[in-house]
Amino acid sequence: MTPHHFRKVSDLSSDQIRAVLAAAARMKRAPLADTHVLAGKTVALIFSKPSTRTRVSFTVGVHQLGGLALTLSEQELQMRKSESIDDTARVLSRYVDAIVIRTFAQSDVDDLAAAASVPVVNALTDDRHPCQALTDIFTFEERFPDARGRQITYLGDGNNVATSLAAAGAMTGIDVCLSVPEGHDVPAPLWAEIQLLAKDGGTRVWVERDPRAAVKNASALYTDVWISMGQTDSEEKIEALRPYRIDAELLASAPGDAVVMHCLPAHRGMEITDDVIDGPRSVVFDQAENRLHVQKALLTHLVGGAG
Ligand code: CP
Repeated sequence: MTPHHFRKVSDLSSDQIRAVLAAAARMKRAPLADTHVLAGKTVALIFSKPSTRTRVSFTVGVHQLGGLALTLSEQELQMRKSESIDDTARVLSRYVDAIVIRTFAQSDVDDLAAAASVPVVNALTDDRHPCQALTDIFTFEERFPDARGRQITYLGDGNNVATSLAAAGAMTGIDVCLSVPEGHDVPAPLWAEIQLLAKDGGTRVWVERDPRAAVKNASALYTDVWISMGQTDSEEKIEALRPYRIDAELLASAPGDAVVMHCLPAHRGMEITDDVIDGPRSVVFDQAENRLHVQKALLTHLVGGAG
């Protein structure tokens, strides 16, 4: 049987996303109620980039589901040195029940999934961050149970987080406004994919260059670092992004009940100010916690039998 991978948000149907988010809510209420799900099972966690939230939440999550998490850095593996990604996928599939991977190229995750006979989960690539996006929708809906038709405005760089957030919003009835400067848009092929998801989902995903106009009707203001992992600092890029920083003044342009989101790690003083990220409207640390609950539900769906 072909395994069910999670390389990108749309590897799950809208109904499957709904089921995962519902299971996550149940797991959040009772974190140790599902210790049988991965009993006797092992999940390999491969990291080629640094991580705090993803690494720890997957490790703790697998433990809470009764399984073993095996963390591997790419430097420790033969993969891409003396062995192909395909052969690594085939071999790991003989030992473990799922592979979670954080790496650079999306094509590496796709290649790993194509050769693996166990589910492969994308824990961030240069193009996508689907586990984060599922969690973002979960957190938004936690704050706004009437989330359908509401708007999240993402401000900053059109990066992997923006791409997956837009895809997840498109599939769950949430409008997503991307307020990004010209030249820092979501890449065209990914944008086309998001527009198709929005059309199917009856939602809107659009670009608004003016940050004040972009937040006017938003229920959440979301941002991420301006220089992503693996990128080098660029003064020009930072200057272009400066008007998109979430500070008290920009937040004052949003509706009074709007919350503030950030996937972390944050560069305080750059894309977000201390008073905002630590303020009463921030749900940033709920987002970080919710990675645990949502990924447990995802693994249960993919590995635990429900997939
Ligand atoms: N948001 C996120 O993926 O955090 P880490 O890079 O610490 O895993």
